[in-house]
Amino acid sequence: MFTTTLAQKSATLPLDLFTVIEDLKHKLNAVILAHYYQDPDIQDIADFIGDSLQLAKAAAQTNADVIVFAGVHFMAETAKILNPDKLVLLPDLNAGCSLADSCPPDEFAAFKAAHPDHLVISYINCSAQIKAMSDIICTSSNAVKIVQQIPKEQPIIFAPDKNLGRYVIQQTGRDMLLWKGSCIVHETFSEKKIVQLQTIHAEAEVIAHPECETGVLRHANYIGSTAALLNYCQKSPAQAFIVATEPGIIHQMQKLAPHKQFIPAPPENNCKCNECPFMHLNTLEKLHLTMKNLTPEITMSEEIRVAALSPIQRMLEMSI
Ligand code: 13P
Ligand code: SF4
Repeated sequence: MFTTTLAQKSATLPLDLFTVIEDLKHKLNAVILAHYYQDPDIQDIADFIGDSLQLAKAAAQTNADVIVFAGVHFMAETAKILNPDKLVLLPDLNAGCSLADSCPPDEFAAFKAAHPDHLVISYINCSAQIKAMSDIICTSSNAVKIVQQIPKEQPIIFAPDKNLGRYVIQQTGRDMLLWKGSCIVHETFSEKKIVQLQTIHAEAEVIAHPECETGVLRHANYIGSTAALLNYCQKSPAQAFIVATEPGIIHQMQKLAPHKQFIPAPPENNCKCNECPFMHLNTLEKLHLTMKNLTPEITMSEEIRVAALSPIQRMLEMSI
């Protein structure tokens, strides 16, 4: 099912979008960076697919003139912060993030001011304004490693994801002050339905993203970032996995481990709430239009960009 070639796909599309996008890529000297939650077509045409940390590094290192970011706003914003001379395009400017939205800058500024002795570590899923108020940024793949490097006596604020924060506290034994933000997608998984699925697929391992709630994480055989989950399911001897993160990643899982079975963890209701509504605002058609029209572009004030850059650079230094 996932072995369709680009040429086969092109043949089925009225505008031959794959060919048109490939041509624009060369004409513009553009690179398409895509997150694992993007639609399969977008993943297939991307030059690079990765988790937030890998995408930030790819954006920082690219020699392309144009970065087309197939992901959500905070990811494209991070690309602009790291590589400001590039034109950074996001196919749909409304592709936000519920977790980033759960941390309004004015409220966070007051919270930070109330705890002046605390070091602020923020998950990359936040706005440039929150990054600018932070000491260090982290992602799901390096949060534990970064917190472990902070001297024990140093109090820490961890923002904005309370679920990732709780997981890091559990892994490091550090007591951190948590901002109470969360992701609508990762909070939707049903512990009860996962346990029911485990009885049907007794051989399956549960793999989960640390943005999930404790009730889901306690059933996980493995917890990690999207890239870490992808890596784990290839190496594990298990033949079936219940996947507790956005199901877009199953496209790469099936490509890289075609003989294994991947079962999306079900949401609480009979809805599609396990699919990130923001990630899926990007479509192949919008990707084409953004490259054709060179808009919408990610912009920010130089003051915010410079302030947001140093905590990202600290993260990159601390996660080598
Ligand atoms: P990763 O950094 O693990 O890819 O996570 C990004 C994200 O938005 C998870 O919801
Ligand atoms: Fe944000 Fe959640 Fe979507 Fe990730 S899955 S981009 S944290 S809303």
